[in-house]
Amino acid sequence: MKMLIFGGSGRTGQVMQRAATAAGWEVQAPTHADCDLLNTQAVTAAVLESGAAAVVNCAAISGLEACLDDPLTAHLVNAVAPAAMALACRHTGARFVHLSTDYVLEGQRPGLKNESTRCKPANVYGLSKREGEQQVTEALESALILRVSWVCGNPAKPSFVESSLSKALAGAPLAAIADKYSLPTDATDIARVVLELLPRQVGGVLHVCSGGEPLSWYDCAMIVLQHAVALGALPQLPPMQQQLLAQATFFREVRPRHTAMSNERLLSLGIPMPTAVQTLQNVAERYLKNYHFGF
Ligand SMILES: NC(=O)c1ccc[n+]([C@@H]2O[C@H](COP(=O)([O-])OP(=O)(O)OC[C@H]3O[C@@H](n4cnc5c(N)ncnc54)[C@H](OP(=O)(O)O)[C@@H]3O)[C@@H](O)[C@H]2O)c1
Repeated sequence: MKMLIFGGSGRTGQVMQRAATAAGWEVQAPTHADCDLLNTQAVTAAVLESGAAAVVNCAAISGLEACLDDPLTAHLVNAVAPAAMALACRHTGARFVHLSTDYVLEGQRPGLKNESTRCKPANVYGLSKREGEQQVTEALESALILRVSWVCGNPAKPSFVESSLSKALAGAPLAAIADKYSLPTDATDIARVVLELLPRQVGGVLHVCSGGEPLSWYDCAMIVLQHAVALGALPQLPPMQQQLLAQATFFREVRPRHTAMSNERLLSLGIPMPTAVQTLQNVAERYLKNYHFGF
């Protein structure tokens, strides 16, 4: 069976392509040059002509400052293009999976947020992604919208998790924000969840992230470094400066402070997820294996 993947060159898209191919899907992944998502007709044609039984959208403008600087492009790629994919899938009967983000959620109250929690994006990126969720749902009720957070686990496209480890291995100074909270999602878990849910009659919004209590970027980096020490990749825990979000003047766009999601609905569907600590340890091991050590 054929699967069409948009955004196949991205952090999640690369992993999705590999996992789908390994699971026996015949994968088509048009590049940005093959199909520019700013061109709605090209998006529609890509779906209609693909003969795909499943369409997975891993594409997005995911940089917060990029969205701030060009809200129109953010709107077109994060909302209009996914809506065109959903409409085309309604026409062909293909299953449609769209990736979204914890940044659509209200981010002021601490605690885990479920799929019924109020959405109140704090920035242009979140607004464009929320609009994407709404337009996709309107176009195709059966579409599956997977909200993911702090995506990591693709060593070829390092996230802050892998970057912290890489800096520590290089002996570079370390600093991380300690008062902004979410939960990491391993890209390999996103791909696994997509493949498990494709044949099932599950639609709507689903939170896909690690389990456990909300963590800060500082907490995540510390867990990764502690694991690297336990594995012998680092001789000792390096010092790491704790930063406050309010002092992070290098961010030009607003970051929501509390967007950690509950993965209870996913678990209730019988799909297990690792805890955040397990995710971070797995991601550290994968990164070390790929780039530094032979284990
Ligand atoms: N990264 C995170 O921590 C995070 C957190 C929460 C949610 N998410 C969501 O998870 C999904 C995957 O994110 P990611 O981090 O894996 O994405 P990513 O690495 O930023 O990759 C984005 C992909 O979209 C493609 N793309 C962007 N503009 C395009 C255009 N105009 N036409 C065609 N393709 C275009 C890119 O292709 P080119 O590179 O060739 O332009 C790339 O393949 C997104 O929906 C994102 O919003 C991510």
